[in-house]
Amino acid sequence: MTSPSFDSPGPLQGIGVSATFEEAARLCQWRAQSQHPAWSRLDYLQLGIYSHQSVPPSLPGDLHAAGLDAVVHLLELNLMRPLELQAEAARRLVEQIERIGPVCVEEDLGLWRWGHTELEQHMLPPVFDQASLDVIVDNVQELQAMLRVPLFVENPPVYFVVGDLDLLTFMRRVAERSRCGLVLDIGHLVGYCAATGRDPHEYLDDWDGIEHVRELHVAGYDLRPDSAGVPMWYDNHAAPVSDYALGLVELARRRARRQLPVTLEQEGATFGRIASHIQRVSHEVAA
Ligand SMILES: [Fe+2]
Repeated sequence: MTSPSFDSPGPLQGIGVSATFEEAARLCQWRAQSQHPAWSRLDYLQLGIYSHQSVPPSLPGDLHAAGLDAVVHLLELNLMRPLELQAEAARRLVEQIERIGPVCVEEDLGLWRWGHTELEQHMLPPVFDQASLDVIVDNVQELQAMLRVPLFVENPPVYFVVGDLDLLTFMRRVAERSRCGLVLDIGHLVGYCAATGRDPHEYLDDWDGIEHVRELHVAGYDLRPDSAGVPMWYDNHAAPVSDYALGLVELARRRARRQLPVTLEQEGATFGRIASHIQRVSHEVAA
């Protein structure tokens, strides 16, 4: 196990893009051949993985040839339920992760499955209370002991709130107690604030847990007027990244006093849109 040092910037740097295994092969090829100036600015790929998947044998070589690092994003472990109930899935995931050789691994703090129901895009948030915190801390410590690289925990999409702790206080306590780094997903933060009547800028600006953040996620989202005229938040990764979201990236970097890496999670977007966002992040977001 590699313990994250809170005095170091973390193992991940630069700009990354989320990708399936199929997309990864094409992105590696484009990066290696620099067919578009944006791809030369790409530093890593975020690869989502389920335990039933097998890593393509060509993937590690493709990443190496393209000069890209990898981050693995787990897509099925329920960190709010005991890991011993998911032991076989965890074992298979660790096996696949070792074939990829990522610099770090990340997982949302939420519920991907309920019984035999796959929630996926409807992932449920944890109950934000002490009992959930205790389970999550145990799970994170256990999972981190199984990995050879740091594990980062991400703030999940939140559509409703149960529990007496607010999201960012909860995330800070997870990081402090389990000694893990955090992923701050900007879209999920905006959604949480919409659900709880908070101002995202003020909420982030006041957060004393920013020092634990090792990576930022940025994606598209929609704010649509409902019948009462109040904007409603919809998680929509394929939508264009807003100036407001990039402003929160700047704020997070400024408060963290470090050039936090930015992962564009743009599933469903065209590669042209992703390329333009890579250039925007590299050109417009201040160090
Ligand atoms: Fe994310």
